[in-house]
Parts: sequence; structure tokens; C-alpha cells
Amino acid sequence: MNKMLSAVAALALVAGSATAGEDAILSIDGENFVTQIAAPSHMENVDTIFSGWVFRTDETQELQTDDFDNPAFVFVDQAIDQWDTVEGSEGKSCSDCHSDVADFVGLKATLPRVENGELVTLTNLVNECVTERMGSKEWKYSGGKMSAMTALIAHQSRGMPVNVSIDGDAASHWELGKEIYYTRVGQLQMACANCHEDNFGNMIRADHLSQGQTNGFPLYRLKNAKINTTHGRFKGCMSNIRATPYKEGSPEFKALELYVASRGNGLSVETPAVRN
Ligand code: HEC
Ligand code: HEC
Repeated sequence: MNKMLSAVAALALVAGSATAGEDAILSIDGENFVTQIAAPSHMENVDTIFSGWVFRTDETQELQTDDFDNPAFVFVDQAIDQWDTVEGSEGKSCSDCHSDVADFVGLKATLPRVENGELVTLTNLVNECVTERMGSKEWKYSGGKMSAMTALIAHQSRGMPVNVSIDGDAASHWELGKEIYYTRVGQLQMACANCHEDNFGNMIRADHLSQGQTNGFPLYRLKNAKINTTHGRFKGCMSNIRATPYKEGSPEFKALELYVASRGNGLSVETPAVRN
């Protein structure tokens, strides 16, 4: 038995789908979302890309169809309060300089992006304001305050297609992300692709494997009852295959964020999504 097969056996991967509503249409307040679409041309091994939403059970899917039922909005509301909160040596709040958070419409759909040769995420942009413009201490990369604020800002792009750039200045970061995506790591010697490309639609233990898309992030997980970030999720997946995860906010995870986002180009931003 080769390494891949033994790893799969160890994880009890079982073919055949469970009871998820794969044909269901995600509609929120009468607005329909793109949850499946032809894969972007850079993807060699996949014809159709799917939002993680289609792989979830009916009950989990439903929580996302009504903002009153969606538990993520408790945290989004906290970020709305934070938006007006003065913090740091400059005595400023976000709203002192940015009149309306809705002005960030479209921003999340194009992130991460390259600025002056550096790959920047939404978290980096917020922290730049927190430290340099407010004179406060950096917010923890996947901490509660940052997760909620990035969810609020990303939410302004809900319904818009993911559209990250992968060429020009972004190309070298994207290549690094791609390399990480396909490199087998950890005791189980598995790559992201072994689960999210080779096996989406199959069951892994009690979980229905998705393509590991990030269009719903930051999102609420029923498992830990809080907002989860992409880097937090990457970390969890790497730990599950008993690899040593990269650090949240590291160049590796930012490159991986860009690459994974690019595999979702065309899917609707769903932030804040709900997953198990
Ligand atoms: C002292 C003024 C000031 C404060 C306070 C401030 N910002 Fe900014 N912010 C700016 C400026 C100036 C820019 C860069 C120009 C721009 O894109 O608007 C910026 C850029 C941003 C961007 C990137 C926008 C883009 O399109 O690239 C985000 C996101 C952002 N701020 C979020 C926040 C958040 C969240 C807070 C509060 C925690 C905050 N800012 C506080 C002035 C401020
Ligand atoms: C052993 C299989 C396995 C490997 C390898 C793996 N994951 Fe996952 N991943 C899962 C499972 C199981 C889930 C939860 C169910 C789902 O959404 O697929 C998940 C969920 C995700 C999600 C959340 C998707 C959503 O819609 O909420 C992302 C993003 C993700 N993985 C990215 C990655 C990345 C990036 C890597 C490589 C560093 C990776 N995964 C490696 C099993 C794996």
C-alpha cells in the first residue's frame, strides 16, 4: 500500500456523499449566490469549483440563509461597536477617518494583493491603521477583535465574485502558495490537494470534504462557536495531518491564502458564512 492510501485508510476516508444539499441554492434576502461555477483556467485538475456551503448538512446550510439565525452576526455587531471605539495614542476611532464601513465594498474580493512588493491581507491593512494611524498596539492576527472586524469589512463584499490577481507582482507569491498546496507534509504525508482536490465530495470520518474554499471567511464555526479566520483554518488542517503549521500571518500562509482564494475566483463572497 502506498503512503497516500495508508494515510487515507488511517483517516477513514469513505467514498460516496452523505446527506448534504448539493443542489441547494444559497439565497439570502432574495439574493442568489454563486456556489458552483466553472473553475478558473489556472486550475488543471478540477472542472467545477464549489463553495464549502454546498457540502454542509441542510441544517448548517439553513443557518446561513437568514442573518437573524446566523450566529456570526453577534460578532459582526461587536465589530460595529469597535468601529466607533477610540483606541490608541492618537485618540481616534475607525469612524473618525472612514465615514462608513460600507465604503469597503469590493475590497475583500480582491485580497490578498501586492503593495510595494509585499503581499497584504485584510488583517495587515487593518493592523496598519491600528498601529500607524491610531497609535495602538497591533491586534492579534486571528484574535477576537481582528476576526470580528475583518468579518465586518469582508461582509461589505458579500455577493460579489472572488477576484484575486495572480500575475504581475502577485505571481511569485502565488507560485509559493501553489507549491505549499501540493506539497505533502506531516506524519501522514498529505498535501492540501490530497483532500480538497482529490477527495472533495467524499466522507472523511463524519465530515463531508469540500474543496477547502475560502470565499466564506472569516466565518462562524459551530464547532468552536466563534469567528474563524483562513489562517486559523489552515493551521487546523495542517495539525490534523500532524504537520507543524506555519504561523498565522506568516509569508507562507499569506501566499497560501492568495493561492487558495484564486482557486475560488468566481464564487460569491459569503462572509460571514456558517460551517460545522
Ligand atoms: C487617522 C485616520 C485613520 C484611522 C483612525 C483609521 N484609518 Fe483605516 N485608513 C486610513 C487611511 C489614510 C488609509 C489609506 C487610504 C485609504 O485607502 O483610504 C486607510 C486604509 C484602510 C483600509 C484599506 C482600504 C483599502 O481600500 O485599501 C482598511 C481596511 C482600513 N483602513 C480599516 C480601518 C479600521 C478597521 C480602522 C479602525 C480599527 C481604521 N482603518 C482606522 C486612515 C485611518
Ligand atoms: C486530511 C484531509 C485534509 C487535508 C490534507 C487538508 N484539509 Fe482542509 N479540511 C479538511 C476537512 C475534513 C475540512 C472540513 C470539511 C470541509 O469543509 O472540507 C476542511 C476544511 C478546510 C477549509 C474550510 C472550507 C470551508 O468552506 O469552510 C479550508 C479553507 C481548508 N480546509 C484548507 C486547507 C488547506 C489550505 C490545506 C493544506 C494546508 C488543507 N485544508 C489540508 C480536511 C483536510
